[in-house]
Amino acid sequence: IGHEITYFDETDSTQYTAHKLAQEGAKEGHVVIANEQTKGKGRLGRQWFSRKGTSVSMSLILRPELPPQKTPQLTLLTAVSVVRGLKKATGIDCDIKWPNDILINGKKLVGILTEMQADPDRVNSIIIGIGMNINQHHDDFTPEIRELATSVALVKGKNVDRAKIIAAVLNEFEQLYDLYIERGFDLIRPLWEAHSVSVGTFIYARTMREVIYGFAKGITEDGVLLLEDEKGKVHEIYSADIEIASQ
Ligand code: BTN
Repeated sequence: IGHEITYFDETDSTQYTAHKLAQEGAKEGHVVIANEQTKGKGRLGRQWFSRKGTSVSMSLILRPELPPQKTPQLTLLTAVSVVRGLKKATGIDCDIKWPNDILINGKKLVGILTEMQADPDRVNSIIIGIGMNINQHHDDFTPEIRELATSVALVKGKNVDRAKIIAAVLNEFEQLYDLYIERGFDLIRPLWEAHSVSVGTFIYARTMREVIYGFAKGITEDGVLLLEDEKGKVHEIYSADIEIASQ
């Protein structure tokens, strides 16, 4: 992972570029990194803001032999890699909020976006986008996200070396990915759960259709969140925004 890197000082979105490279035959492990994105893409059609020189925007091209429904496992694996990489490179401890937000004190530090190109039974390529807030200071965030976002520099009180963080995260990713390909998701799931703040608590899950309140019991083998509502019915949540209910 990361033995081949395409670097841009500026691009629209590393996701678009990675998709294009994948279509042109880029190999598994090829990484696209940008110093600045003009059209960063977030989950659920949202925009992802980054300011030149402060954040890390990268997209990993993977080509695992997997059925498409296993893709969410890779998102969870990525979240674990980011948490472990950040710990190694900077010493900070962060939490994971299902499925893939990395938070510190409830504020967002890293976002992950997984996209795939697949046939019905086989994945062609998976593009995992990682956007990390590293050296942003308060005023670097747009007013809409200022109170919701944080950065490594804000947590540590000083700027940090972005290259060191990229290397640490890719290194962790490579180790976990190799383990996953060899042995499956069983060894990854407990690592994810150990960092998760959204399992074992009461949450609101905002899906495309409704808001469900309930107790998050855990995740399935496929990374689906199991949410028990007040009537005891267990919902399988594939995609949602999660809010932890204050108790
Ligand atoms: C989220 O909404 O939390 C996911 C944000 C993902 C942002 C990253 S930055 C690198 C890659 N390129 C993009 O345009 N988006 C992802």
